[in-house]
Amino acid sequence: MVEPVLKIRDLSVSFAAGDQQLAAVSNVSFDLNEEECLGIVGESGSGKSQTFLAALGLLARNGRATGSVLYRGQEILNAPRHELDELRGNRLGMVFQDALSGLTPTMRIGQQLAESAERHLGMSPAEARARALEMLEIVSIPDPAQRLNAYPFELSGGMRQRVMIALAMICKPDVLIADEPTTALDVTVQAQILRLLDGLKRHTKTSVVMITHDLAVVAGLCDRILIMYGGRPVELGATAEIFSGPLHPYTAGLLRSMPTLSIDPEVDLPAIPGQPPDISQLPAGCAFAERCERASDRCLREDPLLTARTNARSVACHFPLDGN
Ligand SMILES: Nc1ncnc2c1ncn2[C@@H]1O[C@H](COP(=O)(O)OP(=O)(O)O)[C@@H](O)[C@H]1O
Ligand code: SF4
Ligand SMILES: [Mg+2]
Repeated sequence: MVEPVLKIRDLSVSFAAGDQQLAAVSNVSFDLNEEECLGIVGESGSGKSQTFLAALGLLARNGRATGSVLYRGQEILNAPRHELDELRGNRLGMVFQDALSGLTPTMRIGQQLAESAERHLGMSPAEARARALEMLEIVSIPDPAQRLNAYPFELSGGMRQRVMIALAMICKPDVLIADEPTTALDVTVQAQILRLLDGLKRHTKTSVVMITHDLAVVAGLCDRILIMYGGRPVELGATAEIFSGPLHPYTAGLLRSMPTLSIDPEVDLPAIPGQPPDISQLPAGCAFAERCERASDRCLREDPLLTARTNARSVACHFPLDGN
């Protein structure tokens, strides 16, 4: 069997806040397979970003991560800083919601791209500049030769996000982690960026992690999805199977509240009642119990763990749906 590119096991993240330890991520386990696109879906605050920031050694100072993150068999969780810096520059590319935070405001974009190619690919300045131009072409920036000389603030939000993607992809990484890359963009630009990522995924061998609060984003893009709630993984499976038959009541609620083209935009979609849990006051049992129609006494006592139903499908629920 082929080894996964990333193998994450029992990853937990806590933050020190006063005399409390906040459990932001609890026992997350999953694989990212070669050339796959994995969606990580959950409401704001469900632990999506911290899972990957922890994996890449980018937690805030008050954060602590335990568990295991294997990159091609090598343990990288809490690895020395220089190792992680090298991996991030080279093998594990990242794109964030806010492209401005990932770009250096005082440097022309061509310089930023070329510097990465020189440092990580050992290219000469001329080769690196040619590679920078090629990357701007690949991400469909109009007038790429002129744009090499632009500063980040001179570009629109969508163009900046394309530059971020170019910067993340310039070293042909094994893994591209895109954290809500389209959330700050308007709907039309959002669709263009998703098409771009889909095209890149098809034409390169890069595995993609797409982090989003929006199930519609993963629908056409991801092979599998992991649903998170209250810092916990609650359902994992093939996108098509999850969409056609969710097992976790939270997933079912998310799907019911997802707009589809066939639904009249004037009709209010049934939002999941209640609020996401406060991680400073997580309940003893299932974190979703307060909002769950199927909750019983057992759910209030015992926190359900993510358990495999079949080879390809896992759910963390004492009373899952039947998946039909
Ligand atoms: N430095 C920090 N100190 C305390 N709590 C934090 C810190 N960073 C993130 N958190 C909390 O961790 C939880 C998970 O955050 P995050 O992974 O960013 O959620 P999201 O799913 O929206 O990406 C949130 O409740 C957030 O408030
Ligand atoms: S464990 Fe219980 S409360 Fe939690 S999602 Fe399943 S049925 Fe609902
Ligand atoms: Mg986030």
